[in-house]
Amino acid sequence: MNKRNRLEYLILLSNKIEGFFSMKCVIPAAGLGTRFLPITKAQPKEMLPVYDRPTIQFVIEEAVASGIDDVLIVTSKDKRSIEDHFDRSCELEKNLEEHGKFDLLKTVEEMSDLADIFYIRQKKQKGLGDAIYCAKKHVGDEPFVVMLGDIVTKSDVPCTKQLIDLSKRYNSSVIAVEKVPDEKVERYGIIDGTMVSDDIYKVNALVEKPKISEKPSNLAIMGRYVLYPELFDYIEDTEPGAGGEIQLTDAMAKLSSVYASVFNGRSYDIGNKIDWLKTSLEFALTDMEHKDEILDYIHELIK
Ligand code: UTP
Repeated sequence: MNKRNRLEYLILLSNKIEGFFSMKCVIPAAGLGTRFLPITKAQPKEMLPVYDRPTIQFVIEEAVASGIDDVLIVTSKDKRSIEDHFDRSCELEKNLEEHGKFDLLKTVEEMSDLADIFYIRQKKQKGLGDAIYCAKKHVGDEPFVVMLGDIVTKSDVPCTKQLIDLSKRYNSSVIAVEKVPDEKVERYGIIDGTMVSDDIYKVNALVEKPKISEKPSNLAIMGRYVLYPELFDYIEDTEPGAGGEIQLTDAMAKLSSVYASVFNGRSYDIGNKIDWLKTSLEFALTDMEHKDEILDYIHELIK
């Protein structure tokens, strides 16, 4: 081994010891999307556009910006368009090149080079916990990231990067949470936690979709997680819970240590029609080229 190779080897080794290896990421995207029917009958919810990009592209861009280069997407029947979106399209690329559309060519090429993307199918939609269990072999024995395929986030430091850093600091599973109003607690997994420092809680209990009268807090799990691999054993032992589904929250409640971090940024849940529409509009208004035209149109509609 020459001097340079030896140095690289030592850096690699020390990174591994300190746990700086890039984490793998799992994106569950196999759900039926029933709240979006009829759009989602043959079209994946995760492929619905938020202004100019499919939702799941924002999710993968956040993963890449967080230092992740290995992404496993859990898909199902009728979700082939997700794979096609991140694949090369030689015919399209040749056409763009021949017509001198080099900007578009760059966009299309970059999309297929974002990360190493792998796919596995969830055969039956038995719930989020079951979807994550499909990733067991791919993930192996290391902590891993989970990013819901229908949640988009905006922040200076990417939400997932914030969680990875915290997970390393606490040597623990970590989840992102957000304060929700009372009328929304029945829609989310809610934590019961003890504050350990600014906006960080040690989680004592987790409840999926509690009744308002039984809510332990207003801090809702918002779709970004760093999880330790023992979770897979707990999913195996988890019976169907809320909605008859194998809930990730129920399995996470058995983890020996979970911290929750109040997300310093904004999240967008595109899992229902109204929030999806609002998100698309908000993102469109950040496009300076078309902002005025869109605002004029909104004013016209209001009139
Ligand atoms: P949701 O509960 O929001 O998605 O799950 P859903 O089941 O598709 O939606 P509705 O309630 O029927 O409208 C959050 C994420 O988990 C995935 C979904 O694809 C979504 O990205 N998921 C959910 C799975 O991969 N498998 C499942 O069995 C359930």
